[in-house]
Amino acid sequence: MMIPVNSPDVNQADIERVAEDLRLGRLSGSTVTITGLELALAAHVGTAHAVAVANGSCALDLACEVAGVGPGDEVVLPTLTIVSCLAPILRRGARPVFVDASPSDWNMDLDQVVSSVGPRTRAIIAVHTYGLGLDIPTLRERLGERPPYIIEDAAEALGVFVRNRPCGSLGDVAIHSFYANKVITGGEGGALTLEDYETAEDLRALRNLDFGAIERFRHERAAWNFRMSSLQGALIHSQLDRIQMFLEHRRQVGLRYREQLSHLPGLEFQPLTNSVSENGHWVVAVTTGANTGVTGEMMRSRLAEEGIETRALFAPLHRQPVLARFGFSDQETRPVAESLYARGLYLPCGNGISFDSVDKVCSAVDRVYYEVFS
Ligand SMILES: Cc1ncc(COP(=O)(O)O)c(C=O)c1O
Repeated sequence: MMIPVNSPDVNQADIERVAEDLRLGRLSGSTVTITGLELALAAHVGTAHAVAVANGSCALDLACEVAGVGPGDEVVLPTLTIVSCLAPILRRGARPVFVDASPSDWNMDLDQVVSSVGPRTRAIIAVHTYGLGLDIPTLRERLGERPPYIIEDAAEALGVFVRNRPCGSLGDVAIHSFYANKVITGGEGGALTLEDYETAEDLRALRNLDFGAIERFRHERAAWNFRMSSLQGALIHSQLDRIQMFLEHRRQVGLRYREQLSHLPGLEFQPLTNSVSENGHWVVAVTTGANTGVTGEMMRSRLAEEGIETRALFAPLHRQPVLARFGFSDQETRPVAESLYARGLYLPCGNGISFDSVDKVCSAVDRVYYEVFS
C-alpha cells in the first residue's frame, strides 16, 4: 500500500459534529455553524473578525478586492508559492512583482520586498512559506508611514507565531485555507481574519453575491458566491478544537524525520526556525544537495517505486506560462526559488500519519538516496 503524502485525522467527534448539522438540516452557508466557526477562529487567531469562505484561493481574491487592486497597480508576492496568489492579480489587470526566496528560511527576502515597492504598489502578499513565519512586523516598520496594503497568507501557518504574535493577525487582512492537507481541514474551506469591522462586513457581502440588506435581490456590485457550507464549517470547527494536538503531532513527525535523516550527506531540511518564528511543520520539505546533480524529481520517482507518495515544491511563479497570456514576460532569474524547486520535495506527513509510516519513509529515503547518488 502506498504511503500517501498527506494523512488527515478525522475522528468520531468530527463525524458527530457534521452529522448533527445533517440531522438539523443546517446545510447552507448562512447558519449558526458558520457564525460559531467565525467566532472561534477569530478568538484563536486573536483578531476582531473572521469571515468563512469556500477556500483559500477565493479568500485571496476577496483580499485583493478589499485592497483595491486594479488595472495598472503592482502587487508584490513571493515567486515560491501557489498560483492562488498570482491568479487574482492577473485577473484584475495588475502587474505581479516577484520576489525570490531567502536561502535562510525560504520565505520572501525582505530586502527584496522593500526594494520592489514603488509608487504603483497597491498590495503585498506576505506568505508564511511552508509553515515558517515571515517577519511581517519588521516589514511594516521598514516600509515606513504609508505601507501598501498587506495581505497576509497564513494558509500554511495556522498555529505558528511571529514575534509571539499569531499568524493570521499580522496583515491588514489575512487568509487561511482548510484544504485537506492543512493543519485543520474541512476537505475544502477558507477564511479571512482581520481587525477592521467595515472591511469584515464588506467581505461578508462580497462572499454572498452582495445581497441587499434591505431588499435582498437588489445588488450594487457584481459579487461572488464564495460561501462555505455548514457541513464544512462543522468539520473545521471540530478540528479547530483539537488544533494543539495536531500541531504537537506534526512537530514530533517533523523532528523524527530530522533525527533519522540528518546523517544523509547533502540532504537538507527546510529550516526549523528563523529569528522570529518556529516552524509549524505544515510539511516536511527537503532538498538534495546543491551541485550533486540529483534532482527532486529523481528522488520522487524512485520513492514512488518504493510505495511512497511525495510532492514537488512550488514551481516558481515568475516562470509560469500563464503570465504570457496577460502580456507579461519575466526573464530575470530568482536563483534561490529556482534551485529549491529543482532540488526539493516534501515527504509524507499530516495529522494522521503514524510514526511507523514515518520510519518506513525514512528507511526508503535512506536506501534511495545512496542509490541515486552513486
Ligand atoms: C500559501 C497558500 N495560499 C493559498 C492557498 C490556497 O488555498 P486553497 O487550496 O484552500 O484554495 C494554499 C494552498 O492550498 C497555499 O498553500
